[in-house]
Amino acid sequence: MNETLRTIHSLRSIHGGFTTQRIDAADLQAILEAAVRAASASARQSYSIIVVDDRADMKEYLQYVGDKALIFCVDYNRLADTAAYLQQPFGCGGLTDFITGSTDTILAAQTAAIAAKSLGIDSLFTNSIHRGDLRQFYAKFNLPGQRCFPLIALILGYAVHPGQPSRGRLTGPGIIHHGQYRQLAAAETGQIVAAYDRPDQNMGLIFRPDPSQSRYFDWFYKVWCKPKDPAQAERKQLELYQVLQTTGFLDNKYGSPAEPG
Ligand SMILES: Cc1cc2nc3c(=O)[nH]c(=O)nc-3n(C[C@H](O)[C@H](O)[C@H](O)COP(=O)(O)O)c2cc1C
Repeated sequence: MNETLRTIHSLRSIHGGFTTQRIDAADLQAILEAAVRAASASARQSYSIIVVDDRADMKEYLQYVGDKALIFCVDYNRLADTAAYLQQPFGCGGLTDFITGSTDTILAAQTAAIAAKSLGIDSLFTNSIHRGDLRQFYAKFNLPGQRCFPLIALILGYAVHPGQPSRGRLTGPGIIHHGQYRQLAAAETGQIVAAYDRPDQNMGLIFRPDPSQSRYFDWFYKVWCKPKDPAQAERKQLELYQVLQTTGFLDNKYGSPAEPG
C-alpha cells in the first residue's frame, strides 16, 4: 500500500472529541489549498468554505467542537457577481445546478479530510447544520439567502483518543456492481446483515449498542432511523424545502411538500 492509500484507509470519524491542541496555520492553509484541488464542473468551484475558529460557535451551530470547523456551502454567488461585474447574463440555479454544485462541494470537503489526515489531523463530518434552525445559521455566518446552501461541516483537530482503528466497510456485492446493477440475492443480504454483527468487522455506527443485546440492523431500523418526534421531523423537511426554494435551488412549479399537520 502506498502512502496515499494508507492515508485514505486510515480515515476515521472522531466521535470521542478533539483536544485543545491548535492546528498550525500553515497546515490549515495546506488543507484549504488541497480542498480546492478537487475537480469541479465547468471549473466553476461552485462552493464557499467558511473557516470557523470560535469553539462556542462550533458547539452552538455545529454541535461538535474541534480546533477548526470548515463549513462547505454550495454557492453560486461569486459566479453571479462576476457575471454582474461583466454585465453578462447569469443563468445558474435550479435543481441541476444544486446537484452539480453539491458534487463540487462534497469533493472539496472529502479532499480536505484526506489532506488533513495526511498531516496527522483528524476530522468529523457532520450534517448537524440541517438539524438546527437553518435561518439562524444563515444569519450567524452571513450566508447569502440566494444561491447558497450550507451542505456539510468538517470538524478538524487532534483526537482525544488517537490511533483508533478505522471502521469496516462493505466492498463487495451490493456496493460494487460490475457492468450492470445487480440486486442482492437473499443469501447475500443475509451475509451483509451478519457482517455488521461481527466484532472483527468493526462496521456500522459507533453508537451501536452491545451486539449481544440485538442485531445491528434491528437497532438501526427500529431505533436509530426512527424519528423521535415525527411532527418535528416533518417540520424540518418543510423548512429544508422552503430554504432550498428561497435559495433558488428548488422551484415551486415542480411541486412542494404538504404542510405538516
Ligand atoms: C454526511 C455525513 C454526516 C455525518 N454526520 C455525523 C454527525 O452529525 N455526527 C457524528 O457523530 N458523525 C457523523 N458522520 C460520521 C459518520 O457517522 C461516520 O462516517 C460513519 O459512522 C463511518 O465511520 P468512519 O467515518 O469512522 O469510518 C457523518 C458523516 C457523513 C458523511
